[in-house]
Amino acid sequence: METSSATIGVFDSGVGGLSVLHHIRRTLPNARLIYVADSAHVPYGDKTPEYIEQRSHTLTRFLIAQGAQAIVIACNTATAAAAASLREQFKLPILGMEPAVKPAVAATKTGVVGVLATIGTLESARFAALLGRYGEEVEIITQGCPGLVERVEQGELNGAQTRELVARYTAPLLARGADTLILGCTHYPFLAPVIRDVVGADITLIDTGAAVARHLQNRIATELKSTTNSDNSVHFYTSGDAAHASKIMSILWGEAVTVLALPQPYI
Ligand code: DGL
Repeated sequence: METSSATIGVFDSGVGGLSVLHHIRRTLPNARLIYVADSAHVPYGDKTPEYIEQRSHTLTRFLIAQGAQAIVIACNTATAAAAASLREQFKLPILGMEPAVKPAVAATKTGVVGVLATIGTLESARFAALLGRYGEEVEIITQGCPGLVERVEQGELNGAQTRELVARYTAPLLARGADTLILGCTHYPFLAPVIRDVVGADITLIDTGAAVARHLQNRIATELKSTTNSDNSVHFYTSGDAAHASKIMSILWGEAVTVLALPQPYI
């Protein structure tokens, strides 16, 4: 099909998935995009897998009701908790994200890779399996980063408190010789400038957004029926406060957007 004409549903615990949506917009400039920030339930990182799974099913039902033909779970934590059961329940392409260990293993010269992620991602069986696949080749050190997601949700991308948290979380990884850091949460690419500033120019930062967008493009081309729809609009929803979300998401999206409140049954 004309890969560009599909409707794509994207969700995250909050605004972090916009870092993935940027890549999707660039890769599929003519697709219709629907984004949901589950801001009433952020952060997912400290919730149980069952809680996140239930939210992921609810948001996916909403996106399908809006016409989504493919779903992108723009959240590492929700992918770990819910991707398998979403794929069982819903018969459409469902793409997830996980910390990009493979490219990091290829990139490291010191043989030490650091993973910055939420506690939920790091404690998941899915992440344990990923470490099992690559952990023999290089040393992989993990670092949970409580508080960073909240900084991004507040639009605090480079204040003193954000910088202090970034320094606290990256210092132990650098001290152990890591030369490659995986941004294992979709909120963290928005902190890449401050992370770069704190860790210096010699450290490689690895993000998964572009790879997910390319993968999505391939799945659409091979699995979706052709359509003549040429609507490339972008729609934003939140389960939280719509006025606050409009303000923060306009900054992160790079243009003024109006974020709508998610209908009550989905909150
Ligand atoms: N953006 C989510 C992720 O990639 C953040 C999870 C959270 O809300 O803690 O893991």
